[in-house]
Amino acid sequence: MQKVATIGEVRAMIQKWKKQGEHVGLVPTMGYLHEGHASLIRRARAENERVVVSIFVNPTQFAPTEDLATYPRDLEKDSQCCAEAGADLIFHPEVSEMYPDGFCTSVTVDGLSAGLCGRSRPIHFKGVCTVVNKLLHIVRPDRAYFGQKDAQQLAIIRRMVDDLNIATSIIGCPIVREADGLALSSRNAYLSADERRAALVLYRAVCAGEALVRGGEKKISVLIDAMRTVLSQEALARVDYVEAVNARNMQPMEIVARPLLLALAVFIGKTRLIDNCIVE
Ligand code: PAF
Repeated sequence: MQKVATIGEVRAMIQKWKKQGEHVGLVPTMGYLHEGHASLIRRARAENERVVVSIFVNPTQFAPTEDLATYPRDLEKDSQCCAEAGADLIFHPEVSEMYPDGFCTSVTVDGLSAGLCGRSRPIHFKGVCTVVNKLLHIVRPDRAYFGQKDAQQLAIIRRMVDDLNIATSIIGCPIVREADGLALSSRNAYLSADERRAALVLYRAVCAGEALVRGGEKKISVLIDAMRTVLSQEALARVDYVEAVNARNMQPMEIVARPLLLALAVFIGKTRLIDNCIVE
C-alpha cells in the first residue's frame, strides 16, 4: 500500500490503473479510522480492483468555534487500518495542496443542507460538498463509499453528484455500532468514562422512535416526543435537535411516510454526537 500527499501523484496512479481497465473505489475520510471506516474500505475492496482512502481533516467544514484544532489524528494507526482492510493507496494531502492561495470556489446544495445538522452547523455542508467534489475530480472513482451515520451528508452528496452529472456511484453503508449500540465515531475518543456511558442514550432514543414507527405510530410529533423523553432522562445529554424527516430530501412531515429518517444530535458534555435510523 502506498501513501501520497500530492494531487499529481494520485492522478498518475489512477491513470495507470484506468489504463489497465481497473475500477477504482474511493473512501473519503478525515482519519482517526475505526471499524466503521474499515467496513467501508472492505466493501470498496470487494467491489473494485483498486481502493483509495483519502485522509484529510477538511478545515472548511468546521466553524471557528468547532474542534478543528483538537480533531483526533493518528496517521500511523490509520495506515495500519487501511492496509488491513485492503486499501491500495492513501491520499493524505496538506491543507495547502487542497486549498492553495487564492482558492475561492465552493459548492452548496440548497434545501437539503438547511435543516438538521445544517441548522446548527451552517457552513458545514458547503465545506463537505466542496472537498468531496474536489476528491471526486482528483480520484475520478467508479464508486465512492460513505457511512449512513452521516445520513444527511449522504443524501446531500447523492444530490450533488446527480445535479453535477459526476460519473461516480455513491454507495451508502450501514452504521457500525459497538456491542452496546453506540454508533462508532472518531469523536467518541473525546468522551470520559461517564460520558461514554451517557452517550448510549442516543441509541436508546433512536430505538424508541423506531419501535413506535414499526408498531404503527403515524404521528411524527409522537415520535419526536418519545425520543426527547428518552434523552431527557440522561443528565449529561443536551439536545441539539431531534427530527423525523423524509430520508431522501430531508423535508419535514407530520404523518409518517417512508423512507423515514429519525435523526438526532446531542451534546454529551462538550462532545456533539449524532445518530439515526432509516425506516424504509
Ligand atoms: O464524513 C466525513 O468524514 C467527512 O465529512 C468527509 C466526507 C470525509 C469530507 O471531509
